[in-house]
Amino acid sequence: MNKQFYITTAIDYVNGQPHLGHAYEKIVADVIARSRRSLGQEVFFLTGLDEHGQKVQQAAVAEGKTPQAYCDKLAADWQAFAKKLELTNDDFVRTTDPRHKEIVQAGLAKVYQAGQIYKKTYSGFYSTKEETFLTEKDRRPDGTFDPSYGEVIELQEENYFFKLNAHQQWLIDYLAANPTFVQPDHRRNEVLGFLKNNELEDLCISRPAARLNWGIPLPFDKDFVTYVWFDALVNYISIAAAHGDPTVLSALSPSARTHPSPLYLWPADIHVIGKDIVKFHAVYWPIMLKAMGLPLPKQILVHGWWQKDGAKISKSTGNIVDPIAVIDEWGLDAFRFYVLRELDIGPDGNWTDAGFKSRYQAELANGLGNLVNRSLSMLKRYRNGVVPAKHDELAAAAAKVADETRALLKQNQLQSALQSIWGLVTRANQYVDQTAPFKLAKDLAQAKRLDEVLYNLTETCRVLAVLLWPFLPGTAVKIYAQLGLTGTPDKLDAATWGGLPAGRKIGEPAPLFPRKEDR
Ligand code: ME8
Ligand code: MG
Repeated sequence: MNKQFYITTAIDYVNGQPHLGHAYEKIVADVIARSRRSLGQEVFFLTGLDEHGQKVQQAAVAEGKTPQAYCDKLAADWQAFAKKLELTNDDFVRTTDPRHKEIVQAGLAKVYQAGQIYKKTYSGFYSTKEETFLTEKDRRPDGTFDPSYGEVIELQEENYFFKLNAHQQWLIDYLAANPTFVQPDHRRNEVLGFLKNNELEDLCISRPAARLNWGIPLPFDKDFVTYVWFDALVNYISIAAAHGDPTVLSALSPSARTHPSPLYLWPADIHVIGKDIVKFHAVYWPIMLKAMGLPLPKQILVHGWWQKDGAKISKSTGNIVDPIAVIDEWGLDAFRFYVLRELDIGPDGNWTDAGFKSRYQAELANGLGNLVNRSLSMLKRYRNGVVPAKHDELAAAAAKVADETRALLKQNQLQSALQSIWGLVTRANQYVDQTAPFKLAKDLAQAKRLDEVLYNLTETCRVLAVLLWPFLPGTAVKIYAQLGLTGTPDKLDAATWGGLPAGRKIGEPAPLFPRKEDR
């Protein structure tokens, strides 16, 4: 049995509705998952929801619901959203799933037995309104706490702590020896800098059940529940265990379980996450895995954050992009294209409606859409839709782009791959202008030349469908259908020039990206 290429996203907090940032991360992971499948790898793609905690408990109470009923309702919306984005996830984890809770408890039990968890009394400033401990950093310059925290009291509380400090040097050495563990490089340097300049404090992993009951009980003390990260991060291995992964099961399962058809998933190949949760993934998670006796993921791939019109995305100020509204108006592939083409994995991005429309018109409608539509329309008009004999004028250009795309996809360089692919779109549109098939069609002596030009254009459209499939799956399928091809262009091997058989009759051309002039 082969180990699968295992890719995950962050699991989103279930409070609220999905926004642009959530959509972006899931699309990035989906494109990587589709690319690897297209390159011939077996892939397992996991996404899902983070459902425990104070905020969910409070929001449920406010709606007069049980936390579980509240989560169930929102989970349906988020799962529908994953479908709307056409994510090819192989599973969808909810941290309230019994299969997840079981592994969280098994992991905690193992780490506790290994002597890596201890109880201590913690005292600090506590906001009763926000139900959270505050630190010195939360003080304002005059020493007081923001009124939004309500009454702040000094509170003593017993809690369980996970030993992080003891593993600091080990982690520094690991990061130094594994330069691709955290990517892009500047994120890795940030983590290393943080570890070298700060002494790690042990991590508080519990809350008293009396104060927070919407969580997973600690297996060694039922008066406490796990708090945030020992729950959320474990999703990456709990779902592997649920599919019978022998690595996770042998490390954590108390009773050696057998699974009829186990998947080999762990260690993950890529955790795709946003820049705000790097510390949890690059510092806490490796130490947790070490304590559980499990290998580390191969890579943590960190994306930046989106703003809108240069300001933070925020529901309270109304500065939002509603992905569902954009998709309903412009189509899913226009949305996928914009976020992937506009923003490389790493830096922060800025959504503007004008920028979105401009890419739609220039690159989708006038670029790709126009190329496919005029190529196929001319073939229909001048050759009754029948593909002429193979000809290789654009073969080298197409092969170069296909090779570049393959190489870039292996490095998760999604934006650069799109740039490369659009190089071929532009080249082919220039080819139409240079060869002027509409003029050739008027001269019978040019019939052979017209055949050549039409073959080159039609075949380029086919190659583009294959290259685009990971990014714009719906568009790729439409191009294939318009070419009269059955099946899905989901294998990069099919990008080889000459795949379009002479004599085949194409389907009906139709605009891929209708122009929206009046907007
Ligand atoms: O952090 N632009 O959940 P979350 C880009 N449950 N990405 C953004 C973004 C923005 N404006 N806003 C949020 C959590 N994100 C935890 C994760 S993982 C074991 C637990 C990204 O709903 C953010 O960086 O607050 C994170 O990767 C993801 O959305 C979920 O954020
Ligand atoms: Mg967050």
